[in-house]
Amino acid sequence: MRGRLWLSLVPNSNWQGVIQQYRKYLPFADDAPIVSLNEGNTPLIRADRLAEIIAPNTGLNLFFKYEGLNPTGSFKDRGMTAAISQAVGEGAESVICASTGNTAASAAAYAARAGIRCIVLVPEGKIALGKLAASLAYGAEVISIDGSFDAGLDMVREIVQRQPIVLVNSINPWRLEGQKTGAFEICDQLGGTAPDFHCLPVGNAGNISAYWLGYKQYEMGLPRLIGGQAAGAAPIVTGKVVKNPETVATAIRIGNPARWRQALEALDESGGIITALTDDQILDCWQLLAVKEGLFVEPASATGLAALRKTINSGDIDPTGKTIVVVLTGHGLKDPDTAVGRAATPSQIPADVLALETYLAHSSRNKNSS
Ligand code: F0G
Repeated sequence: MRGRLWLSLVPNSNWQGVIQQYRKYLPFADDAPIVSLNEGNTPLIRADRLAEIIAPNTGLNLFFKYEGLNPTGSFKDRGMTAAISQAVGEGAESVICASTGNTAASAAAYAARAGIRCIVLVPEGKIALGKLAASLAYGAEVISIDGSFDAGLDMVREIVQRQPIVLVNSINPWRLEGQKTGAFEICDQLGGTAPDFHCLPVGNAGNISAYWLGYKQYEMGLPRLIGGQAAGAAPIVTGKVVKNPETVATAIRIGNPARWRQALEALDESGGIITALTDDQILDCWQLLAVKEGLFVEPASATGLAALRKTINSGDIDPTGKTIVVVLTGHGLKDPDTAVGRAATPSQIPADVLALETYLAHSSRNKNSS
């Protein structure tokens, strides 16, 4: 099978995944096998209503990069196409990762596509349902450990020293190679320029490092980076390893990020800011995204917006006339429990149009309410 291209054709589209699209910026040989699910090409969505809510009358141009629309529902697919392609090119037959869930689902899908074994370690009880379901469905060997993501990462780092298994966490440099294509796409979608600010959640700090690499390489301007960590898992903000990280944003429940130093460099070089957000601040923005813009994301994905809102409110940045991109890293269906847990229960009426009319007459939400 070696040498085969795992590309599929999409009717009316030339898009064949991020490696094919940005090949000349990536260190793949011309004959390298590519394992792709046509990831990338995610929409950059303008959000005037939310811009007005978080920065009224400033002329802020706010955009969301909706990474939840990748094949497995998160930005991880950009890096995983690169890591799995490289692993297959090197003849790997097994890959492994520790994960808060999205890396696991992505690794599982791309390994399935390549026909190789995938083992994932996840923190017991702390992985959102959609991520677990997907990883199992793709046929990965899911191993639950009675420790955090950080403990799992230590384990997989060590096992790959002892066994012929390729590590596909973001300490694998190929992951960053793939993920930096997010920066290329944003510049292309903005018409050949980088935004003024780029906001995103920070967990293991692979994505912030990858975006910075991408912006530097693409040479269309450099944004200031604004990172958000959950207050209960904010080692980079506090400068201290967090032994027992805790947050509703389980994707970023990480106490000792592998790319910590590189994230600090990126923040420093970009004149960036990293800040901690409480679960309430994160969930507030999670709700605003859904209710005001129709963007349903998993809680961690709202952390970039929460960080932006906080830095605007504190006066640390001036959004006037600025173009700001916020990355929405994972889809809302990843974490149905949090969504259902916070939702109102559905109204119940008889299956009868008169009952529906009565409901509409008495409903507190009429068409003039926002
Ligand atoms: N947002 C989501 C939805 C994530 O799943 C992650 C990381 C991040 C943000 C943070 O990105 O780690 O590159 O700083 N999830 C990893 C995982 C840790 O295992 O799925 P980062």
